[in-house]
Amino acid sequence: MPVTAVIGTQWGDEGKGKIVDLLAQDADMVIRFNGGNNAGHTIENEHTKDMPEGVAKLHIVPAGVFNSRTLNVIGAGTAVHIPTLAQEISELKSGGLNVNNVIISKKAHLVMPWHVLLDEAEELKRSPKKKIGTTKRGMGPVFAAKHARKGFRAGDLLRTDFRDRFFDQYNEYELILQILYRHWDIPNPSVMYREFMEYAEQVRGLICNAENEIDSYLNRGSNILLEGAQAMLLDIDHGTYPFCTSSACTIAAASQGSGIPANRIDERIGVVKAYSTRVGPGAFPTKLEGAMDNKLREWGKEYGATTGRPRACGWLDLPLLSYANRRNDFTSIAVTKIDVLHSLPQFYVGIGYKNCSEHEQAVCEDVSCGLEEGSQAALRPVDGWNSDISGITKYSRLPKKARAYVRAIEDAMKTKAKFISVGPHREQTIIR
Ligand code: GDP
Ligand code: IMO
Ligand code: MG
Repeated sequence: MPVTAVIGTQWGDEGKGKIVDLLAQDADMVIRFNGGNNAGHTIENEHTKDMPEGVAKLHIVPAGVFNSRTLNVIGAGTAVHIPTLAQEISELKSGGLNVNNVIISKKAHLVMPWHVLLDEAEELKRSPKKKIGTTKRGMGPVFAAKHARKGFRAGDLLRTDFRDRFFDQYNEYELILQILYRHWDIPNPSVMYREFMEYAEQVRGLICNAENEIDSYLNRGSNILLEGAQAMLLDIDHGTYPFCTSSACTIAAASQGSGIPANRIDERIGVVKAYSTRVGPGAFPTKLEGAMDNKLREWGKEYGATTGRPRACGWLDLPLLSYANRRNDFTSIAVTKIDVLHSLPQFYVGIGYKNCSEHEQAVCEDVSCGLEEGSQAALRPVDGWNSDISGITKYSRLPKKARAYVRAIEDAMKTKAKFISVGPHREQTIIR
Protein backbone atom coordinates (compact mmCIF):
# COMPACT_ATOMS: atom_id res chain seq x y z
CA MET A 1 0.00 0.00 0.00
CA PRO A 2 2.48 2.30 1.61
CA VAL A 3 0.66 5.63 1.00
CA THR A 4 -2.76 5.35 -0.65
CA ALA A 5 -5.32 8.09 -1.17
CA VAL A 6 -9.04 7.36 -1.55
CA ILE A 7 -10.80 10.08 -3.54
CA GLY A 8 -14.45 10.52 -4.56
CA THR A 9 -14.91 10.98 -8.32
CA GLN A 10 -18.46 12.37 -8.49
CA TRP A 11 -20.55 14.57 -6.11
CA GLY A 12 -19.78 12.65 -2.92
CA ASP A 13 -21.38 9.60 -1.27
CA GLU A 14 -19.69 7.16 -3.62
CA GLY A 15 -18.84 4.79 -0.76
CA LYS A 16 -15.43 6.21 0.22
CA GLY A 17 -16.05 5.24 3.85
CA LYS A 18 -16.68 1.62 2.91
CA ILE A 19 -13.48 1.42 0.85
CA VAL A 20 -11.37 3.10 3.56
CA ASP A 21 -12.77 0.74 6.21
CA LEU A 22 -11.95 -2.24 3.98
CA LEU A 23 -8.37 -1.10 3.30
CA ALA A 24 -7.82 0.06 6.88
CA GLN A 25 -7.59 -3.58 7.95
CA ASP A 26 -4.01 -3.36 6.66
CA ALA A 27 -3.35 0.29 7.46
CA ASP A 28 -1.11 1.58 10.22
CA MET A 29 -2.51 5.08 9.88
CA VAL A 30 -5.59 6.71 8.32
CA ILE A 31 -5.65 10.48 7.82
CA ARG A 32 -8.77 12.56 7.07
CA PHE A 33 -7.34 15.48 5.11
CA ASN A 34 -10.20 17.78 4.03
CA GLY A 35 -13.70 18.96 4.79
CA GLY A 36 -15.42 18.62 8.14
CA ASN A 37 -18.62 17.17 9.47
CA ASN A 38 -20.39 17.98 6.22
CA ALA A 39 -19.12 14.49 5.30
CA GLY A 40 -21.04 11.35 6.16
CA HIS A 41 -19.13 8.09 5.67
CA THR A 42 -21.18 4.96 6.31
CA ILE A 43 -19.48 1.79 7.52
CA GLU A 44 -20.95 -1.67 7.88
CA ASN A 45 -18.70 -4.38 9.32
CA GLU A 46 -18.59 -6.88 12.18
CA HIS A 47 -17.99 -4.04 14.71
CA THR A 48 -21.06 -2.02 13.71
CA LYS A 49 -23.60 -4.81 14.37
CA ASP A 50 -24.77 -3.27 17.66
CA MET A 51 -24.86 0.29 16.40
CA PRO A 52 -28.12 1.98 15.28
CA GLU A 53 -29.29 0.34 12.00
CA GLY A 54 -26.18 -1.87 12.19
CA VAL A 55 -23.98 0.83 10.67
CA ALA A 56 -21.68 3.63 11.80
CA LYS A 57 -22.07 7.04 10.19
CA LEU A 58 -18.80 8.88 10.59
CA HIS A 59 -18.64 12.62 10.05
CA ILE A 60 -15.17 13.53 11.25
CA VAL A 61 -13.61 10.43 12.84
CA PRO A 62 -11.50 8.65 10.19
CA ALA A 63 -12.86 5.34 8.92
CA GLY A 64 -9.82 3.41 10.19
CA VAL A 65 -11.24 3.62 13.70
CA PHE A 66 -12.49 0.01 13.60
CA ASN A 67 -8.98 -1.36 13.43
CA SER A 68 -7.54 -0.88 16.93
CA ARG A 69 -4.00 -1.09 15.46
CA THR A 70 -4.60 1.91 13.16
CA LEU A 71 -3.77 5.42 14.31
CA ASN A 72 -6.49 7.75 12.99
CA VAL A 73 -5.46 11.32 12.34
CA ILE A 74 -7.83 14.25 11.89
CA GLY A 75 -5.44 16.16 9.68
CA ALA A 76 -4.37 19.76 9.21
CA GLY A 77 -6.65 20.32 6.20
CA THR A 78 -9.87 19.51 8.06
CA ALA A 79 -12.32 21.69 9.97
CA VAL A 80 -13.42 20.10 13.24
CA HIS A 81 -16.73 20.74 14.93
CA ILE A 82 -15.79 19.83 18.48
CA PRO A 83 -19.30 18.85 19.73
CA THR A 84 -19.77 16.53 16.73
CA LEU A 85 -16.39 14.90 17.32
CA ALA A 86 -17.04 14.41 21.05
CA GLN A 87 -20.50 12.95 20.36
CA GLU A 88 -19.25 10.72 17.58
CA ILE A 89 -16.55 9.23 19.80
CA SER A 90 -19.03 8.71 22.60
CA GLU A 91 -21.51 6.98 20.24
CA LEU A 92 -18.79 4.67 18.94
CA LYS A 93 -17.91 3.80 22.54
CA SER A 94 -21.57 3.08 23.33
CA GLY A 95 -21.56 0.76 20.32
CA GLY A 96 -18.80 -1.25 22.02
CA LEU A 97 -15.75 0.19 20.26
CA ASN A 98 -12.58 1.12 22.12
CA VAL A 99 -11.79 4.53 20.69
CA ASN A 100 -8.24 5.16 21.83
CA ASN A 101 -6.70 5.46 18.39
CA VAL A 102 -7.72 8.96 17.28
CA ILE A 103 -5.57 12.11 17.31
CA ILE A 104 -6.16 15.65 16.02
CA SER A 105 -3.55 17.82 14.34
CA LYS A 106 -2.94 21.08 16.18
CA LYS A 107 -3.26 22.70 12.76
CA ALA A 108 -6.81 21.49 12.05
CA HIS A 109 -9.25 24.38 12.06
CA LEU A 110 -12.18 24.54 14.46
CA VAL A 111 -15.74 25.09 13.37
CA MET A 112 -16.89 27.74 15.83
CA PRO A 113 -20.55 28.15 16.83
CA TRP A 114 -20.86 31.40 14.82
CA HIS A 115 -19.63 29.66 11.66
CA VAL A 116 -22.66 27.39 11.82
CA LEU A 117 -25.02 30.33 12.46
CA LEU A 118 -23.50 32.28 9.58
CA ASP A 119 -23.72 29.33 7.17
CA GLU A 120 -27.44 29.09 7.96
CA ALA A 121 -27.96 32.85 7.69
CA GLU A 122 -26.11 33.14 4.37
CA GLU A 123 -28.08 30.25 2.89
CA LEU A 124 -31.36 31.76 4.08
CA LYS A 125 -30.52 35.10 2.47
CA ARG A 126 -29.65 33.64 -0.94
CA SER A 127 -32.36 33.90 -3.57
CA PRO A 128 -33.86 30.52 -4.63
CA LYS A 129 -31.65 30.21 -7.73
CA LYS A 130 -28.49 30.99 -5.78
CA LYS A 131 -29.00 28.63 -2.85
CA ILE A 132 -26.05 26.23 -2.55
CA GLY A 133 -27.94 23.69 -0.45
CA THR A 134 -25.12 23.49 2.08
CA THR A 135 -25.20 20.95 4.89
CA LYS A 136 -25.38 23.94 7.28
CA ARG A 137 -22.34 22.67 9.11
CA GLY A 138 -20.45 25.97 8.91
CA MET A 139 -18.08 24.97 6.12
CA GLY A 140 -18.17 28.20 4.06
CA PRO A 141 -17.51 30.45 7.06
CA VAL A 142 -14.85 28.23 8.68
CA PHE A 143 -12.78 27.93 5.50
CA ALA A 144 -13.30 31.66 4.80
CA ALA A 145 -11.93 32.44 8.28
CA LYS A 146 -8.99 30.07 7.68
CA HIS A 147 -8.02 31.83 4.47
CA ALA A 148 -8.54 35.25 6.06
CA ARG A 149 -6.06 34.03 8.70
CA LYS A 150 -8.37 34.61 11.61
CA GLY A 151 -9.48 31.03 12.20
CA PHE A 152 -9.18 29.05 15.41
CA ARG A 153 -7.03 25.95 15.21
CA ALA A 154 -7.19 22.90 17.45
CA GLY A 155 -3.84 23.90 18.97
CA ASP A 156 -5.37 27.21 20.06
CA LEU A 157 -7.49 25.26 22.54
CA LEU A 158 -4.29 24.56 24.48
CA ARG A 159 -3.39 28.26 24.72
CA THR A 160 -4.21 30.57 27.64
CA ASP A 161 -5.56 33.37 25.43
CA PHE A 162 -8.25 31.08 23.89
CA ARG A 163 -11.04 32.53 26.06
CA ASP A 164 -10.22 36.14 25.16
CA ARG A 165 -10.05 35.37 21.45
CA PHE A 166 -13.34 33.46 21.70
CA PHE A 167 -15.13 36.50 23.12
CA ASP A 168 -13.44 38.92 20.68
CA GLN A 169 -14.51 36.90 17.71
CA TYR A 170 -17.98 36.36 19.10
CA ASN A 171 -18.37 40.15 19.09
CA GLU A 172 -17.21 40.42 15.49
CA TYR A 173 -19.55 37.71 14.19
CA GLU A 174 -22.44 38.95 16.33
CA LEU A 175 -22.22 42.25 14.45
CA ILE A 176 -22.10 40.50 11.06
CA LEU A 177 -25.05 38.28 11.93
CA GLN A 178 -27.17 41.08 13.32
CA ILE A 179 -26.39 43.88 10.89
CA LEU A 180 -26.03 41.99 7.62
CA TYR A 181 -28.40 39.10 8.24
CA ARG A 182 -30.88 40.46 10.80
CA HIS A 183 -30.21 37.39 12.91
CA TRP A 184 -31.05 38.36 16.48
CA ASP A 185 -31.47 34.97 18.07
CA ILE A 186 -27.83 34.42 18.99
CA PRO A 187 -27.05 32.60 22.25
CA ASN A 188 -25.32 34.60 24.94
CA PRO A 189 -21.50 34.42 24.65
CA SER A 190 -20.97 33.00 28.14
CA VAL A 191 -23.46 30.20 27.49
CA MET A 192 -21.86 29.53 24.11
CA TYR A 193 -18.38 29.44 25.64
CA ARG A 194 -19.41 27.12 28.47
CA GLU A 195 -21.05 24.64 26.10
CA PHE A 196 -18.12 24.77 23.72
CA MET A 197 -15.62 24.12 26.50
CA GLU A 198 -17.61 21.19 27.91
CA TYR A 199 -17.12 19.38 24.61
CA ALA A 200 -13.58 20.69 24.18
CA GLU A 201 -12.56 19.13 27.51
CA GLN A 202 -13.62 15.72 26.18
CA VAL A 203 -11.26 15.86 23.19
CA ARG A 204 -8.46 18.16 24.39
CA GLY A 205 -6.21 15.16 25.10
CA LEU A 206 -6.30 14.12 21.44
CA ILE A 207 -4.71 17.33 20.13
CA CYS A 208 -1.03 16.99 19.28
CA ASN A 209 1.69 17.67 16.71
CA ALA A 210 0.20 15.00 14.47
CA GLU A 211 2.63 15.76 11.63
CA ASN A 212 5.49 14.39 13.79
CA GLU A 213 3.60 11.09 14.01
CA ILE A 214 2.90 11.20 10.28
CA ASP A 215 6.61 11.77 9.55
CA SER A 216 7.69 8.85 11.69
CA TYR A 217 5.11 6.51 10.12
CA LEU A 218 6.28 7.68 6.69
CA ASN A 219 9.93 7.10 7.57
CA ARG A 220 9.18 3.59 8.77
CA GLY A 221 7.45 2.82 5.46
CA SER A 222 4.14 2.18 7.23
CA ASN A 223 0.88 1.72 5.38
CA ILE A 224 -0.91 5.05 5.37
CA LEU A 225 -4.38 5.72 3.97
CA LEU A 226 -5.54 9.21 3.09
CA GLU A 227 -9.34 9.42 3.41
CA GLY A 228 -10.98 11.95 1.13
CA ALA A 229 -14.25 13.62 1.99
CA GLN A 230 -16.62 15.15 -0.56
CA ALA A 231 -15.44 14.57 -4.11
CA MET A 232 -13.98 15.78 -7.37
CA LEU A 233 -17.05 17.69 -8.60
CA LEU A 234 -17.51 19.41 -5.22
CA ASP A 235 -13.89 20.62 -5.23
CA ILE A 236 -13.57 24.36 -4.61
CA ASP A 237 -11.36 24.92 -7.69
CA HIS A 238 -12.22 22.15 -10.14
CA GLY A 239 -15.81 21.36 -9.16
CA THR A 240 -19.13 22.94 -10.13
CA TYR A 241 -18.43 26.31 -8.48
CA PRO A 242 -20.23 27.93 -6.67
CA PHE A 243 -22.33 24.79 -6.13
CA CYS A 244 -19.54 22.96 -4.38
CA THR A 245 -17.97 22.72 -0.97
CA SER A 246 -15.43 25.13 0.53
CA SER A 247 -12.35 22.91 0.68
CA ALA A 248 -10.30 21.10 -1.93
CA CYS A 249 -11.09 17.45 -2.62
CA THR A 250 -8.59 16.18 -5.21
CA ILE A 251 -5.31 14.32 -4.83
CA ALA A 252 -3.60 17.69 -4.38
CA ALA A 253 -5.67 18.21 -1.24
CA ALA A 254 -4.64 14.78 0.02
CA SER A 255 -1.05 16.00 0.08
CA GLN A 256 -1.70 19.53 1.29
CA GLY A 257 -4.24 18.54 3.95
CA SER A 258 -2.20 15.69 5.41
CA GLY A 259 1.27 17.21 5.05
CA ILE A 260 2.51 14.18 3.10
CA PRO A 261 4.62 15.32 0.12
CA ALA A 262 2.81 14.72 -3.18
CA ASN A 263 5.56 12.44 -4.52
CA ARG A 264 5.18 10.13 -1.51
CA ILE A 265 1.59 9.21 -2.41
CA ASP A 266 1.98 5.87 -4.18
CA GLU A 267 -1.60 4.86 -4.95
CA ARG A 268 -4.59 6.98 -5.87
CA ILE A 269 -7.91 5.12 -5.76
CA GLY A 270 -10.89 6.84 -7.36
CA VAL A 271 -14.23 5.73 -5.93
CA VAL A 272 -16.92 5.57 -8.64
CA LYS A 273 -20.54 4.88 -7.80
CA ALA A 274 -22.12 2.83 -10.63
CA TYR A 275 -24.64 5.65 -11.20
CA SER A 276 -24.60 9.30 -10.10
CA THR A 277 -26.14 11.12 -7.16
CA ARG A 278 -26.03 14.67 -5.99
CA VAL A 279 -27.37 16.42 -2.88
CA GLY A 280 -28.09 20.07 -3.44
CA PRO A 281 -28.33 22.08 -6.68
CA GLY A 282 -25.82 22.62 -9.50
CA ALA A 283 -24.89 20.94 -12.77
CA PHE A 284 -26.04 17.33 -13.08
CA PRO A 285 -26.22 16.45 -16.80
CA THR A 286 -27.44 12.86 -16.35
CA LYS A 287 -30.02 13.69 -13.68
CA LEU A 288 -33.23 11.65 -13.83
CA GLU A 289 -36.76 12.80 -13.14
CA GLY A 290 -39.82 10.85 -12.05
CA ALA A 291 -40.14 7.11 -11.56
CA MET A 292 -36.58 6.11 -12.44
CA ASP A 293 -35.11 8.72 -10.10
CA ASN A 294 -37.32 7.35 -7.30
CA LYS A 295 -36.40 3.74 -8.07
CA LEU A 296 -32.65 4.36 -7.92
CA ARG A 297 -33.07 6.32 -4.68
CA GLU A 298 -35.06 3.52 -3.04
CA TRP A 299 -32.84 0.67 -4.29
CA GLY A 300 -29.64 2.53 -3.42
CA LYS A 301 -31.04 4.01 -0.17
CA GLU A 302 -29.90 7.39 -1.43
CA TYR A 303 -30.55 9.62 1.54
CA GLY A 304 -27.78 11.83 2.94
CA ALA A 305 -25.76 10.31 5.79
CA THR A 306 -25.36 13.81 7.29
CA THR A 307 -28.62 15.65 6.65
CA GLY A 308 -30.96 12.82 5.64
CA ARG A 309 -31.90 14.77 2.48
CA PRO A 310 -32.94 12.68 -0.55
CA ARG A 311 -30.12 12.52 -3.08
CA ALA A 312 -31.03 13.29 -6.70
CA CYS A 313 -30.15 10.29 -8.88
CA GLY A 314 -28.95 9.95 -12.46
CA TRP A 315 -26.90 7.77 -14.79
CA LEU A 316 -23.13 7.63 -14.87
CA ASP A 317 -21.45 10.49 -16.74
CA LEU A 318 -18.45 9.06 -18.59
CA PRO A 319 -16.88 12.37 -19.72
CA LEU A 320 -17.04 13.69 -16.15
CA LEU A 321 -15.36 10.52 -14.89
CA SER A 322 -12.64 10.97 -17.48
CA TYR A 323 -12.25 14.54 -16.21
CA ALA A 324 -11.97 13.26 -12.62
CA ASN A 325 -9.19 10.98 -13.77
CA ARG A 326 -7.36 13.80 -15.54
CA ARG A 327 -7.35 15.85 -12.33
CA ASN A 328 -6.25 12.93 -10.12
CA ASP A 329 -4.42 10.40 -12.32
CA PHE A 330 -5.87 7.40 -10.48
CA THR A 331 -3.78 4.25 -10.21
CA SER A 332 -6.97 2.20 -9.79
CA ILE A 333 -10.69 2.65 -9.24
CA ALA A 334 -13.27 1.13 -6.91
CA VAL A 335 -16.68 0.72 -8.56
CA THR A 336 -19.38 0.74 -5.88
CA LYS A 337 -23.12 0.02 -5.68
CA ILE A 338 -23.18 -1.90 -8.94
CA ASP A 339 -25.62 -4.30 -7.21
CA VAL A 340 -28.21 -1.48 -7.13
CA LEU A 341 -28.66 -1.72 -10.93
CA HIS A 342 -29.36 -5.45 -10.84
CA SER A 343 -33.01 -5.52 -11.87
CA LEU A 344 -32.79 -3.15 -14.83
CA PRO A 345 -32.97 -4.85 -18.24
CA GLN A 346 -31.44 -1.71 -19.74
CA PHE A 347 -30.05 1.53 -18.40
CA TYR A 348 -27.92 4.43 -19.71
CA VAL A 349 -24.60 6.25 -19.46
CA GLY A 350 -23.86 9.86 -20.40
CA ILE A 351 -21.43 10.18 -23.29
CA GLY A 352 -21.46 13.95 -23.89
CA TYR A 353 -23.68 17.03 -23.73
CA LYS A 354 -26.67 18.14 -25.82
CA ASN A 355 -27.67 21.58 -27.05
CA CYS A 356 -24.41 23.10 -25.94
CA SER A 357 -24.18 26.73 -26.98
CA GLU A 358 -20.41 26.75 -27.56
CA HIS A 359 -19.99 23.87 -30.00
CA GLU A 360 -21.64 22.90 -33.29
CA GLN A 361 -21.66 19.12 -32.94
CA ALA A 362 -24.79 17.22 -31.84
CA VAL A 363 -22.99 15.61 -28.91
CA CYS A 364 -20.43 17.89 -27.31
CA GLU A 365 -17.64 16.07 -25.47
CA ASP A 366 -16.12 19.18 -23.90
CA VAL A 367 -16.48 18.57 -20.21
CA SER A 368 -16.47 22.26 -19.37
CA CYS A 369 -19.93 22.34 -20.99
CA GLY A 370 -21.00 19.42 -18.79
CA LEU A 371 -19.99 21.39 -15.71
CA GLU A 372 -22.33 24.24 -16.69
CA GLU A 373 -25.55 24.66 -14.75
CA GLY A 374 -28.48 23.15 -16.70
CA SER A 375 -26.37 21.04 -19.07
CA GLN A 376 -28.01 17.86 -20.35
CA ALA A 377 -26.30 14.62 -21.21
CA ALA A 378 -26.51 12.70 -24.46
CA LEU A 379 -27.07 9.08 -23.44
CA ARG A 380 -26.06 5.65 -24.69
CA PRO A 381 -27.99 2.52 -23.67
CA VAL A 382 -26.32 -0.24 -21.66
CA ASP A 383 -27.59 -3.82 -21.36
CA GLY A 384 -28.45 -4.84 -17.82
CA TRP A 385 -27.72 -8.29 -16.35
CA ASN A 386 -30.98 -8.84 -14.51
CA SER A 387 -29.64 -10.89 -11.60
CA ASP A 388 -28.74 -10.35 -7.97
CA ILE A 389 -24.96 -10.00 -7.65
CA SER A 390 -24.76 -8.93 -4.00
CA GLY A 391 -23.33 -12.29 -2.86
CA ILE A 392 -20.62 -12.59 -5.53
CA THR A 393 -17.02 -12.47 -4.31
CA LYS A 394 -15.09 -13.34 -7.49
CA TYR A 395 -14.84 -11.14 -10.57
CA SER A 396 -15.12 -14.10 -12.92
CA ARG A 397 -18.52 -14.94 -11.35
CA LEU A 398 -20.04 -11.58 -12.24
CA PRO A 399 -22.48 -11.79 -15.16
CA LYS A 400 -20.83 -10.99 -18.49
CA LYS A 401 -22.90 -7.83 -18.91
CA ALA A 402 -21.89 -6.54 -15.47
CA ARG A 403 -18.24 -7.08 -16.42
CA ALA A 404 -18.85 -5.24 -19.68
CA TYR A 405 -20.22 -2.30 -17.68
CA VAL A 406 -17.14 -2.28 -15.44
CA ARG A 407 -15.01 -2.36 -18.60
CA ALA A 408 -16.85 0.66 -20.05
CA ILE A 409 -16.01 2.61 -16.88
CA GLU A 410 -12.40 1.44 -17.03
CA ASP A 411 -12.16 2.51 -20.67
CA ALA A 412 -13.58 5.97 -19.95
CA MET A 413 -11.16 6.45 -17.08
CA LYS A 414 -8.23 4.57 -18.61
CA THR A 415 -7.83 2.95 -15.20
CA LYS A 416 -8.33 -0.58 -13.92
CA ALA A 417 -11.10 -1.37 -11.44
CA LYS A 418 -9.31 -3.14 -8.62
CA PHE A 419 -12.36 -3.18 -6.34
CA ILE A 420 -15.99 -3.90 -7.20
CA SER A 421 -18.38 -3.31 -4.34
CA VAL A 422 -21.61 -5.31 -4.50
CA GLY A 423 -23.21 -4.34 -1.18
CA PRO A 424 -22.72 -2.05 1.82
CA HIS A 425 -20.98 -4.61 4.07
CA ARG A 426 -17.18 -4.75 4.18
CA GLU A 427 -17.31 -8.37 3.02
CA GLN A 428 -19.39 -7.55 -0.07
CA THR A 429 -16.38 -6.56 -2.13
CA ILE A 430 -14.65 -8.20 -5.07
CA ILE A 431 -10.90 -7.52 -5.06
CA ARG A 432 -9.07 -8.18 -8.33
P1 GDP B 1 -19.22 8.22 1.32
O1 GDP B 1 -19.64 9.58 1.77
O2 GDP B 1 -18.52 8.25 0.01
O3 GDP B 1 -18.45 7.45 2.35
O4 GDP B 1 -20.56 7.41 1.06
P2 GDP B 1 -21.88 7.37 2.02
O5 GDP B 1 -21.61 6.51 3.17
O6 GDP B 1 -22.38 8.74 2.27
O7 GDP B 1 -22.93 6.75 1.02
C1 GDP B 1 -22.75 5.50 0.46
C2 GDP B 1 -23.94 4.60 0.85
O8 GDP B 1 -23.95 3.44 0.08
C3 GDP B 1 -23.85 4.12 2.29
O9 GDP B 1 -25.15 3.94 2.77
C4 GDP B 1 -23.15 2.78 2.16
O10 GDP B 1 -23.44 1.90 3.22
C5 GDP B 1 -23.72 2.27 0.88
N1 GDP B 1 -22.84 1.43 0.07
C6 GDP B 1 -21.49 1.50 -0.10
N2 GDP B 1 -21.08 0.60 -1.03
C7 GDP B 1 -22.19 -0.04 -1.43
C8 GDP B 1 -22.43 -1.07 -2.41
O11 GDP B 1 -21.54 -1.55 -3.11
N3 GDP B 1 -23.73 -1.46 -2.58
C9 GDP B 1 -24.76 -0.93 -1.87
N4 GDP B 1 -25.99 -1.39 -2.09
N5 GDP B 1 -24.57 0.02 -0.94
C10 GDP B 1 -23.31 0.47 -0.74
P1 IMO C 1 -19.15 12.92 1.69
O1 IMO C 1 -17.76 12.97 2.24
C1 IMO C 1 -22.36 14.73 -0.63
C2 IMO C 1 -22.54 19.11 -0.69
C3 IMO C 1 -23.75 19.72 -0.03
C4 IMO C 1 -23.91 20.99 -0.85
C5 IMO C 1 -22.46 21.38 -1.12
C6 IMO C 1 -21.93 22.46 -0.18
O2 IMO C 1 -20.12 12.22 2.55
O3 IMO C 1 -19.13 12.43 0.29
P2 IMO C 1 -21.16 22.38 2.38
O4 IMO C 1 -21.92 22.00 3.60
O5 IMO C 1 -19.94 21.58 2.14
O6 IMO C 1 -20.91 23.87 2.31
O7 IMO C 1 -22.19 22.08 1.16
O8 IMO C 1 -21.68 20.21 -0.98
N1 IMO C 1 -21.76 18.18 0.17
C7 IMO C 1 -21.81 16.84 0.06
N2 IMO C 1 -22.57 16.06 -0.75
N3 IMO C 1 -21.45 14.18 0.20
C8 IMO C 1 -20.65 14.95 0.98
O9 IMO C 1 -19.63 14.45 1.70
C9 IMO C 1 -20.84 16.34 0.96
N4 IMO C 1 -20.28 17.39 1.60
C10 IMO C 1 -20.84 18.50 1.09
O10 IMO C 1 -24.88 18.88 -0.13
O11 IMO C 1 -24.51 20.68 -2.09
MG1 MG D 1 -21.34 10.58 2.40
